[in-house]
Amino acid sequence: AQLTGMDFNLSEEHEAVQFAARDFAQNELLAGVIERDNEQKFDPALIRKMGDLGFLSMMVLPQYGGGGMDTLSYVIAMEEISKIDASASVIMSVNNSLVCWGLQAYGTDAQKEKYLTRLASGKMVGAFCLSEPEAGSDATSQHTTAEDMGDYYLLNGTKNWITNGNSSEICLVIAQTHPDRGHKGINALIVEKNSAGFTVGRKEDKMGIRASDTHTLMFSDVKVPKENRIGEDGFGFKFAMMVLNGGRIGIAAQALGIAAGAFELSLKYSQERKTFGKPISNHQAIQFKLAEMATKIEAARMLVYKAARLKDQGKDYIKAAAMAKLYASDVAMWVTTEAVQVHGGYGYVKEFHVERLMRDAKITQIYEGTSEIQKLVIARELLK
Ligand code: CAA
Ligand code: FAD
Repeated sequence: AQLTGMDFNLSEEHEAVQFAARDFAQNELLAGVIERDNEQKFDPALIRKMGDLGFLSMMVLPQYGGGGMDTLSYVIAMEEISKIDASASVIMSVNNSLVCWGLQAYGTDAQKEKYLTRLASGKMVGAFCLSEPEAGSDATSQHTTAEDMGDYYLLNGTKNWITNGNSSEICLVIAQTHPDRGHKGINALIVEKNSAGFTVGRKEDKMGIRASDTHTLMFSDVKVPKENRIGEDGFGFKFAMMVLNGGRIGIAAQALGIAAGAFELSLKYSQERKTFGKPISNHQAIQFKLAEMATKIEAARMLVYKAARLKDQGKDYIKAAAMAKLYASDVAMWVTTEAVQVHGGYGYVKEFHVERLMRDAKITQIYEGTSEIQKLVIARELLK
């Protein structure tokens, strides 16, 4: 059953994006998804294919080689790909909403020519490096330093939890230049992976999104040319926040997709599995689970679409993005847990996919700002 929203009938173009993403997820991602999760295998060939199909640079303007699509197209694709493989969709999310969108919105013409065009070609992916061992939620307390040396910055410090940490060729690194200015002294720098002094550290062994590579990154006297700074001196923290506002819509769409994927599997399974002489979908207890799952998913989708539309209309979307992420991630956790229940013992083994979706759902309440941080953002918007 296709769940769309009352006021959100999709245009033909949006339906075409949905079809293409669903087709790619079903035909290319599904077959190896259990193996990739087991082996924590990031498959470069699959990611390149995603790039070739345009899923890694959906909102990049055509002049830089991107799809020139709107945010709604992006969340529609994110939902479809996340139904099958949330590891693939986090790679997609970081590249689209943090790296490409950030460069497009705030980069110089030269930075766009040099980096955005390569990202848009799908030949490389990027990473976004804000978090540190002692600066996760408390992101203003950056310990990584970018010392101003005249025509370059000298970068020192450690970032952790970096998605695409090993597989990326460029990183957007947030670092402190003027500690006396607090968050207004922070800069965002484009750092090339092959720079001297740049080390990729250990890979995390994770609960979910196991095929996405998450690494610690270390910088020791890395020289970053001044022209690689994004925006004015001291714009880095604002840059990170502005980029994360859009990123949160992407992660909300990921959570929505994880939930919708678990629901679709449950709907199907409940009509096939028989107990006490009838399909379990004939038991009202199971029907009520399906009804509640579908209702929550529909509500989450409306919040995600609303945030995407506000962004497309050039309106303020900070609160809408945080609400979408807060709600959709809770829905993902709840729906996937119920999906395992609907599957009984079969839900507890890998073959039936729902246990993976449950493990994958959990991260959506943590990254790009935990649920507690989303509440803080929403409350500040309400009270300002
Ligand atoms: N949009 C725009 N600006 C924002 C903002 C937002 N959502 N949130 C904060 N800001 C601005 C504030 O306006 C302020 O700027 P001014 O001084 O110019 O007004 C500045 O940022 C600092 O804000 P606060 O004074 O409110 O600072 P704080 O320390 O009390 O709170 C915070 C900041 C909201 C908690 C912020 O640190 C935060 O969002 N933390 C979560 C970090 C996060 O989301 N990390 C994600 C890492 S990336 C990732 O996770 C990728 C992935 O998984 C795949
Ligand atoms: P903490 O900030 O230590 O929080 C611990 C707990 O305290 C949480 O429940 C939190 O909500 C709560 N808490 C903290 N402060 C408050 C408060 N003021 N009020 C109420 N509760 C509070 N980061 C990147 O920069 N780039 C990436 O690509 C990236 N990818 C990631 C991928 C994975 C798989 C993971 C696990 C993380 C990733 N992150 C990335 C980091 C992620 O954004 C942080 O883990 C997250 O922001 C939380 O920070 P923390 O882990 O330090 O938790």
